[in-house]
Amino acid sequence: MRVLVIGGGGREHAIVHACARAGHEVLCTPGNPGIASLARVVDSAQDAAALAALAATEAVDVVIVGPEAYLAAGVVDACRQVGIPAFGPTRDASRLEGDKAWSKAFMNRHSIPTAQHRAFTALDEALDYVEALPLPIVVKDAGLKAGKGVTIAHSVAEAGHALREIFTQEGAQAVVEDFMTGQEVTILALCDGTRYALTPPSQDHKTIFEGDTGPMTGGMGVICPFPVDVATMLAIRERIIEPTLAGMRAEGLEYRGVLYAGLMLTPTGPKVVEFNARFGDPEAEAVLPLLTSDLARHALDAALGHLDPAGVTFSELASATIILAAPGYPGEPERGIPLTLPTTEPHQVIYHAGTRLDGPRLVSHGGRVLAVTATAPTLARALGDAYALADRMEFPGAQLRRDIGGRIGVVPEPA
Ligand code: GLY
Repeated sequence: MRVLVIGGGGREHAIVHACARAGHEVLCTPGNPGIASLARVVDSAQDAAALAALAATEAVDVVIVGPEAYLAAGVVDACRQVGIPAFGPTRDASRLEGDKAWSKAFMNRHSIPTAQHRAFTALDEALDYVEALPLPIVVKDAGLKAGKGVTIAHSVAEAGHALREIFTQEGAQAVVEDFMTGQEVTILALCDGTRYALTPPSQDHKTIFEGDTGPMTGGMGVICPFPVDVATMLAIRERIIEPTLAGMRAEGLEYRGVLYAGLMLTPTGPKVVEFNARFGDPEAEAVLPLLTSDLARHALDAALGHLDPAGVTFSELASATIILAAPGYPGEPERGIPLTLPTTEPHQVIYHAGTRLDGPRLVSHGGRVLAVTATAPTLARALGDAYALADRMEFPGAQLRRDIGGRIGVVPEPA
């Protein structure tokens, strides 16, 4: 098949990698230097109409959309209009991620377990509301923020600061919700509107510093599979994934694409922290190397409404992904840092997240710069091999967390 992947980060590198190793011809826009070693990188305008025209001109069999902003811009709708199947929800269906206030109201309409919340369009009302709440307080920007629009406030003053930041934007909306305790887990469902297949559960680590401290990032490292017992997996299917797909259908928003359920495994069962409308980043870099079936085939089948869930298969191995971020991230990252990448073994991959070529030199060009993944028979060994690879990277000033997997007590096993 001929596949067009849209995006240029670590997630898209992992998608391209999965499609290329299944033997497909892969095109990608805007791509990155790592993707260029596996796919034809195409220079294109990035608006929905131009991308749909590119897909039609290149006569691709399927388009796979990586980042959420393209979904919100209607790329899937535009591709459908020119007769090209695209894997991802339509613009309206991607509201599940793009509008957190709508998403929470959807969950309430369909009795999908989630934290108690209130949405605000006015700063004063939000400030009054947080005064009386127990700590910590979760404050979310209702719009798209690449995973960074969330503050876990440990004082009313901190919650107020986060709210003031949100309301500096015109037309802003904030969601304030109860803090949930438990292990956080990501479930990715490949969906065709009705049927779905789950990837193995994974766990991201979202703050910049070890011990889950410091500001939120897009994600600093992932382990997969994250252990979830059979009864909890059944609850996730029956109380969260299935009612979400049914609810979307009932509201005329049939959901085809990846449903990312960010969940908290609370003492009273799994609850939704957030829905996203695409593969997680860096979850994709940990989960997709374990896929043993054909991602492009699943994407096409799902886009056409006939996914075969039994055909979606994963290896029994474990994987670990470690993010190397630039100094300054998640604030303004330093760019242009020279990078020298080590050689990898077959069970290791270096995904490019924020790199570019400066003449012949590879340099950093974003906050999260590289994602290194290793697969192995155990999580401990996968972590050990991923850290060993990260430590051979020449990337002055790189930030990385040394405690990925530590929440469940996994200690990296040296190679
Ligand atoms: N890893 C978090 C996200 O993809 O939003």
